[in-house]
Amino acid sequence: MRVLSITSEAIPLIKTGGLADVAGALPKALNEHDVDMRVLLPAYNTLRPLMDKANLLWKTKSCLGYEVRAFALVKDGIQFLLLDCPALYDREGGIYNDGEGADYVDNHMRFAVLSMAAAMIVEEGLSDGWQADILHAHDWQAGLAPTYLKLRGKCKVPSVLTIHNIAFQGWVSADALQQLDLPAEEFHAGSLEYWGQLSTLKAGLVFADAITTVSPTYAGEIKTPEFGMGLEGVLNNRSRDLTGILNGVDDVWSPAKSDDFLPYDVKSLGNKAKNRTALLKEFSLPKMDGPLAIVVSRLTDQKGIDLLIDALPSYFARRGGLCLLGSGAPDLEIALHQLRAKFPDQFGLRIGYDEALSKRMFAGADAVLVPSRFEPCGLTQLYGLRFGTLPVVANTGGLADTVINANTAALQKKTATGIVMTRIDTAALMEALNSLIDIYAQKRVWKTMQKNAMIQVVDWSESARVYYKIYSDILNTD
Ligand code: ADP
Ligand code: GLC
Repeated sequence: MRVLSITSEAIPLIKTGGLADVAGALPKALNEHDVDMRVLLPAYNTLRPLMDKANLLWKTKSCLGYEVRAFALVKDGIQFLLLDCPALYDREGGIYNDGEGADYVDNHMRFAVLSMAAAMIVEEGLSDGWQADILHAHDWQAGLAPTYLKLRGKCKVPSVLTIHNIAFQGWVSADALQQLDLPAEEFHAGSLEYWGQLSTLKAGLVFADAITTVSPTYAGEIKTPEFGMGLEGVLNNRSRDLTGILNGVDDVWSPAKSDDFLPYDVKSLGNKAKNRTALLKEFSLPKMDGPLAIVVSRLTDQKGIDLLIDALPSYFARRGGLCLLGSGAPDLEIALHQLRAKFPDQFGLRIGYDEALSKRMFAGADAVLVPSRFEPCGLTQLYGLRFGTLPVVANTGGLADTVINANTAALQKKTATGIVMTRIDTAALMEALNSLIDIYAQKRVWKTMQKNAMIQVVDWSESARVYYKIYSDILNTD
């Protein structure tokens, strides 16, 4: 089975968040099912040097008016197709916005061209004879790929759209319809129109044959007004075609192998203790008896960082510690710096993005905090489980699906793997942090939870099987 995956980011080439982890992990996971996946993404300026060694496999003089080419290259065993269109992708800033954080004004065009190129590649095949059986689009950036494929009607290849985050919907003014080569007669509420505008995510939700999102709980949540962010109606209409499939964790995230920290497993947690000492040192924090928690996150409203800032003083008062790595909203960064100045011996802060450091943090810490307001899946709680770094999470989306709360019953049955907040507010986070302090003090209970967490299966095997089943189902439906 040949699948063309369309994404705006994928590891190991380019990453701003979990979408990249998932888009880069899926080809490897699906390989087990004999799926031959190629991953199409823009040739951003940082990726241009890779094109020297890549093979030109497809080109067109006009993709929505742009001349574009697709170059194939293999990186870490993944088959990538880099879409070359310097006018749209060869830019100095970030992949979605300029260096100052302002979104590119032509983002709709940048990702419409990616989507149209995907549809054309599916229709025409590549010059090495590769022909897709299925198109798999990710998020709003690729939402128009299923749309173009269906509306052009040149081939019957079915498509899947995966929602990684419904908060990002790809809103475009209705004036752009013609520029995007979308038919005016499709501009109505049952199709492309969305509150007087166009949403590329909604378009994908209407035209894809199957819709997936990244956890079963989120699949239910987005059908409600509280979490659907306006798209709950469309999702209720397509409820039969919507499946929640949990993300997995790639093998590169393992406590058992690393040059960067002392490797450990369930039987050698002594090494984790040494990593803890090293982590405290790295963040210039003194020895600490209470739990050492970490946060590795984008600093945004979604991630509940404001709740955390309000809850932390009482946690610090009870001798808890925290190392935080993240970047994002300037007001949150400032508030974190202020908190750090008040608790210099308990709070270590790094503003920035650093994958190697994040791994040392998981290897050394006792707990990872994820108090998100909503979380489609979340990956850091999964890393936490694998590393025996117990997750303290909000009761939402993939967090709710992956962490077993340390309530009395679960503690008695010895099944608990973390702490789940009862509500998503500051008081509930303070309660959860109190539980963290209390449970951490009970060394035997803590160790049992660590072991439970580390043996929980968080790899891709089951989820890959479900993706494969969905591909098979849509291939077999007329
Ligand atoms: P989201 O995609 O919403 O940001 P996820 O939990 O799905 O949330 O994925 C975030 C990914 O980005 C994880 O792999 C996490 O480790 C990583 N990450 C986030 N912020 C940082 C950072 N400042 N430094 C290193 N890695 C980070
Ligand atoms: C999004 C979500 C996150 C999810 C990731 C990968 O960025 O916010 O919860 O884990 O996509 O699917």
